[in-house]
Amino acid sequence: MKTVTPPQSSTNGTNDANPAKRTHFDDKGNFKVVWDSSIDVWWHEAVADVSSECPPVWMDAEDPLFMLYTSGSTGKPKGVLHTIGGYMLYTATTFKYTFDYQPGDVYFCTADIGWITGHSYVTYGPMLNCATSVLFEGVPTYPHTSRFWEIIEKYKVSKFYTAPTAIRTLMKFGDEPVKKYDLSSLSVLGSVGEPINPEAWLWYYRVVGDSNVSIVDTFWQTETGGHVITPLPGATPTKPGSACFPFFGVDVVLLDDEGHEIKGEGEGYLVFSRPWPGMMRSVYGDHERFETTYFKKFPGYYCTGDGAKRDKDGYIWVTGRIDDMLNVSGHLLSTAQVESALVEHEAVAEAAVVARPHTVKGECLYCYVTLAEGHNYDTALITQLKNKVRGKIGAFATPDFMQLAPGLPKTRSGKIMRRVLRKVAVGDRDLGDISTLADPSVVEVLFQHRPKEAKV
Ligand code: WT7
Repeated sequence: MKTVTPPQSSTNGTNDANPAKRTHFDDKGNFKVVWDSSIDVWWHEAVADVSSECPPVWMDAEDPLFMLYTSGSTGKPKGVLHTIGGYMLYTATTFKYTFDYQPGDVYFCTADIGWITGHSYVTYGPMLNCATSVLFEGVPTYPHTSRFWEIIEKYKVSKFYTAPTAIRTLMKFGDEPVKKYDLSSLSVLGSVGEPINPEAWLWYYRVVGDSNVSIVDTFWQTETGGHVITPLPGATPTKPGSACFPFFGVDVVLLDDEGHEIKGEGEGYLVFSRPWPGMMRSVYGDHERFETTYFKKFPGYYCTGDGAKRDKDGYIWVTGRIDDMLNVSGHLLSTAQVESALVEHEAVAEAAVVARPHTVKGECLYCYVTLAEGHNYDTALITQLKNKVRGKIGAFATPDFMQLAPGLPKTRSGKIMRRVLRKVAVGDRDLGDISTLADPSVVEVLFQHRPKEAKV
C-alpha cells in the first residue's frame, strides 16, 4: 500500500494546475501530493458532516437514465438515449450470462468508463450483479507492455474483457511479456468493439488463455445497450472470428438490398426483427432522426448498419459497417477481410483499409499499415503485403495503394475512423468533425506519409 503523506504546510503559489506535476513517488516509493489548500480537501474532513444515508429517488422504468453520443462514422454525433428499467435489466442479464458471472469472480474490463462499454460493463452490469471488479485508468503499454497481464496475476482476475485493437497492439510484442505472468485464474476472455480477426482471436486464446478458456466475441452497439450477438462461455462451441449466436430475446435477420429475408447461409444487412429491453429509446432531442436512422431503410426492423454472414452452421460473422464495404470490379468485400489478411504478415501490427474511387474498377483498395517493432517499410515489404492479400482473397483484391501509418485515427473507444482515412486516401483535407478522435494529430502525419503514386 502506498501512503499519502499529510501536508506540512500550504505550498500555494508553487503549483500549477497540472495535477501530474503535483504528485510524485519519493525515494521510498511513497506517493506524495504537494498540497494546495486552494483546491485540495481531505476526504475525512469533507465527509464528516454528511449523512451516511442516501435515500433512493423513485423513477419510472421509462425515464431517461443517460445518453451517450456515438462517434458517428457519418454525419453529426447522435445522443443515444437509454432508459432506466430496460437498460439496467439488460446489462445485468447480459453481464451475468455472457461472462458466466459467479460470486467469487474477479472481473476486469479495460474500457474507458465514459463510453458505452464502460457504462454497461464496467459500471451497471457488474454492479447490478455485486461483482468484484478491477477498475483501470491508463494504457496497456505503460509503464510496460505487460500491464494487463501483471494486473490479472496480481488480482487473480477470472473474467477479462478488452478490445481487438488492444489485443493486436499487445500481440506485436510477442508471447514473452504475457508468459512471464501466471494467468491461470482466467476462465473467460471477452472481446468487443470491432470484428476480431482470427489471428488475434487465436493469439488471445492460446497465449493469454493458455488454450484453456472461453473466448466471447461480443457484438453490440452503443444503441443496443448490451450484447446482442455473443457466444455463452462453456456452452457455445466457438469459431475464431464469429460472434456466434443471438442473445436471449434477440431476433437476428439478414436482409438483401431489396429487404427480403435471407434464410440459411448468406450475407446481407444485419437487422433485428423484435425489440429487446436494452435498446435505445430515442436520439436525444430528435426522435425523427431516431426513426429515420434505424427504422426507415427496412420498415419493421431495427437496422444495425452492419453487414453479416451466416454460415452453414448458423453462425453469424459480422463483417463490419455497411459503409466499410467496398466493391472492386463488381466484387463486394469487407475492409475487415483485407485487414485480416494484412495483419497475418508478421511485420504488420495493425491495418486499416478503405475504398478509393477508381475509374476502371469503381473502387480500389487503399491500405494503411502500422508496423510491428523492428520492421522496415520498404518496397520488398509492400510487394509481400500486396501478394498476401491477393493470395488470400483473390487477384481482384490486390491493393492499389499501400501507405505506412505510424498511427491510425481512432476514437477514444478505439474505433478506426475510416471516414478520415478515405479523405487522406484522396488527399482531401475537408475532414469534417474530428473532435471525437483520441489524438487528432495523427491525421497530419498520415497526410505527410501519402505515397507518391496516390498524389495523382
Ligand atoms: C459498432 C458499434 C459495443 C461497444 C463498443 C462499440 C462494431 C462492436 C463488434 C464485434 C464485430 C463489432 C460494429 C458495431 N462492433 N463489436 N464483436 N464484432 N463488430 O460501440 O461505438 O457503438 O460501435 O462496433 O460495427 O455496429 P459503438
